[in-house]
Order: sequence, then C-alpha cells, then structure tokens
Amino acid sequence: LKHLLSIRDISKEEILNLLDSTATFENKQLNLANGKLLATLFFEPSTRTRLSFETAMHRLGGDVISLGAKEASSVAKGESLLDTAKTVAGYADILVIRHPVEGSARFVAENVDIPVINGGDGANQHPTQTLVDLYTIKKLRGKFENLKIALFGDLKHARTMRSLLHGLSLLDTPMNILLVSPKGLEMQTDVESNKLSIVETNDPNEIRKNNCEFVYVCRIQKERFLDPMEAKRIADDFRVTKEMVGNAIILHPLPRVDEIEKSIDKSENAKYFDQAANGVPVRMAVIASLLNLG
Ligand code: CP
Repeated sequence: LKHLLSIRDISKEEILNLLDSTATFENKQLNLANGKLLATLFFEPSTRTRLSFETAMHRLGGDVISLGAKEASSVAKGESLLDTAKTVAGYADILVIRHPVEGSARFVAENVDIPVINGGDGANQHPTQTLVDLYTIKKLRGKFENLKIALFGDLKHARTMRSLLHGLSLLDTPMNILLVSPKGLEMQTDVESNKLSIVETNDPNEIRKNNCEFVYVCRIQKERFLDPMEAKRIADDFRVTKEMVGNAIILHPLPRVDEIEKSIDKSENAKYFDQAANGVPVRMAVIASLLNLG
C-alpha cells in the first residue's frame, strides 16, 4: 500500500491485516518511527482526525508538523494546494490531508513522492474513519458475519457513511444494513455486493423492527446545505432516542451536535468516545504500514 486515499483502494486482506495490526498498537509507546516526520494539511476543521494522527505519530516515536489554520500559512496569500503540498512533501515523510474538494487527496498523491493519507475529501471518502469504525465493531462484536447495523442520519452528505458502506461490502460477508435517513437525504449507493442485504427507509422505527445490533449515527451536515434553516428543521425532527434504538450499541464518528438524546450518553451502549479513542491505534497501524516500519 503506497497511499491510503479511499477504502475502495484496499483489499479485504489488507483491511483485515490492518485491523489485526491495530490490536498490537493499543496503549503502546514505541520508537519505530524515530527520525520520521508526519505532516498534517487540514483545510477543513478537525479535532479527532488531526489530533489522533498526531498522537499516533508521537506514540510511534516520530515527530509531527502541522500547517495549522489557513490564515497562519501562505494559503492566505493565495498559494495553491499543490504548491503547498509539494513544499511540505519536501520536509516530511508522510502527509495527511483534509480538503473540501472531492478527489483532492488523490490529486496531491499523484504529484508528490511521499505517502498521502486522505483525512476526508468533501462528501467523498474518509478511509481511516472507516478503519476506526470497522475496528470498533470487531472489538465489540468479535466478528462481522451476520452483523445487523443501521446507518442513521444525513446519508446524502456524510462521507463517513459512504466509506463505511464500502468498507462493509469489501469484507464480503453476509450482513444486514438498514439505511435510515430523512426524506431527500438518502445515500446515493453504488455498492455492489451479493453478500449485503441493504434496505432503505425514512422511518426510524424500522431500527427496532429489524433488531439492529448497532446504530451508526451521523449529524445533519448543515455546512453542506444551501439553506441553514432547512438543515435545522430536518435535524430537529431526526434525533436518536432510547426508545428508537432499544439495546443497540450506538456509534457516531463525532462531532455530534444534538442528534443523540442526552440520556443515551449515560448508557453503556453509547460507544462513540471509545470509537474516537480507537483512532489512535488504527492510525498507528496505517502510518506503520505506509512507512514500512518494522
Ligand atoms: N470523525 C472525524 O472525522 O472527526 P473530526 O472532523 O473532528 O476529525
């Protein structure tokens, strides 16, 4: 694996190897990446992706440089993405990029000589989030066979959902996926798998009717709506309640706003902060793989 740009670029074996390798990085402080430098180029806000990559590199014994806010770099003077990336690629050994334009990480990867990781490109892909999600499910459930999972929320705009569905399909294992979204925010699925049973609905009551074991929630992405009031109206009507999900485990890539009823936070089925913590060993495994660290 030279870059990690889309979950679709990697095979079932590579995914399973990364998940196995992740388990060996949990709670470790190593010096495998001694003398190596990871650069983060984030053109959109991030807490988990950027900081867990930085933590992962520190835990591998490497160092980190970060472009920081646009206003603090020469991007503010009009420097292009490519010139910025080429410059930073001259300093670092591996690059993580988040950018609002779909395909931007691949464009950078085609033009620099170091490994590039896509930390999210518009509504397109967020492959390391998918690895975090798969690792979290495997850790909690032990296996993927016959998993019953609901993907809930703004499925039209959420790159995490699109990436996760691709990741699940790549595992080539029988699973039941319920896609639950408000009307008009359905996912444009292009997943082909004869192992997945995929059912779409606008009715959250289907979650309990289908005995879903996991409910993976995402927020209504108001920044991708032309009318913010429309986003707010939809978000107010589409919120996860305890009654709606029963005993299902709740996952969320975070950040969340108020799409999960507050009382769910206290439930032992709320696993979204454990999921966020899994970001560190998963990204350690990804960096170690791309840098061929022994
Ligand atoms: N889940 C995720 O990508 O979070 P951030 O936007 O905070 O990086």
